[in-house]
Amino acid sequence: MTTLPDGPNQGQAQYWNADNGAIWVRLQPVLDAMFQPIADEVVRLGFPGEGGRVLDIGCGAGGVTLAMARQVGPAGGCLGVDISAPLVEAATARAKAEGLASARFALGDAQTFAFEAAAFDAAVSRFGVMFFDDPAAAFGNIRRAVRPGGRLAFAAWRGPDENPFMTTGARIARTFNPDLRRYEPDAPGQFGLAREARILEVLSAAGWSDIETQAWDAPGVLPESQLASFVTQVGATGETFRMLPEAQRAEAAQAIVAAYAPFVREGAARFDMACWLVTAKA
Ligand SMILES: C[S@@+](CC[C@H](N)C(=O)[O-])C[C@H]1O[C@@H](n2cnc3c(N)ncnc32)[C@H](O)[C@@H]1O
Repeated sequence: MTTLPDGPNQGQAQYWNADNGAIWVRLQPVLDAMFQPIADEVVRLGFPGEGGRVLDIGCGAGGVTLAMARQVGPAGGCLGVDISAPLVEAATARAKAEGLASARFALGDAQTFAFEAAAFDAAVSRFGVMFFDDPAAAFGNIRRAVRPGGRLAFAAWRGPDENPFMTTGARIARTFNPDLRRYEPDAPGQFGLAREARILEVLSAAGWSDIETQAWDAPGVLPESQLASFVTQVGATGETFRMLPEAQRAEAAQAIVAAYAPFVREGAARFDMACWLVTAKA
């Protein structure tokens, strides 16, 4: 049995160490393919140059950590930190399989992790920074790990209304049970940093400067063969679907997949991933 890290984010620790961690491990190739344009942008914005030392926050199965480690080369390195033991194990196995010694991983809560001060030239994240109980404390802890003048670059989802692909399934699941939990602005979760003002407020409170936000719609493509599995398992749609009682799930899954028909063309679901790209200086 895995011992969860102690600390404030116990709800998310449990969530990412139970079903959801297993789902993200299982769907890693699908998720990495879909989020590839976002990995490319995060690595481009956060790249500190060859030989640089980078921290990847909420690294999951390590897609961005590995990409950054390849870029900085053997003289540098990238450390991925994540609160989920199954995801850290999967990421470690991928680095080993690739023989990429400059990618390392640690299990822990980025909000409280005892990072060495000023040990990194940059901190990056693809969708791993929206889950903190206390985002200002977490981004403060991350800032202290980055050397003065070093950079922060991350991607976070914009709001649910701008991301219908991520929320259509949840909307349909609620027609089966209107009491299912709804999105709460600013609450830890997929849309925890959806409000631009919130990002600016949190990063300023955490002592980051030169904060810049850019609204960016990344092209999303998901093979039609993966659609049913994705929308009943991942993110807000999967989470809401899984709250339905077992007896309603088969019918709900059918209705959910049918509701995604408008996204499908030429064998794939095609959609925009409405994100914030955020950069700042320590
Ligand atoms: C949406 S996934 C993104 C994973 C990965 N960055 C990617 O793009 O594939 C969010 C990740 O953040 C991690 N996470 C959530 N809260 C965390 C925390 N307090 N500290 C470290 N990791 C956390 C989760 O375990 C999960 O792996």
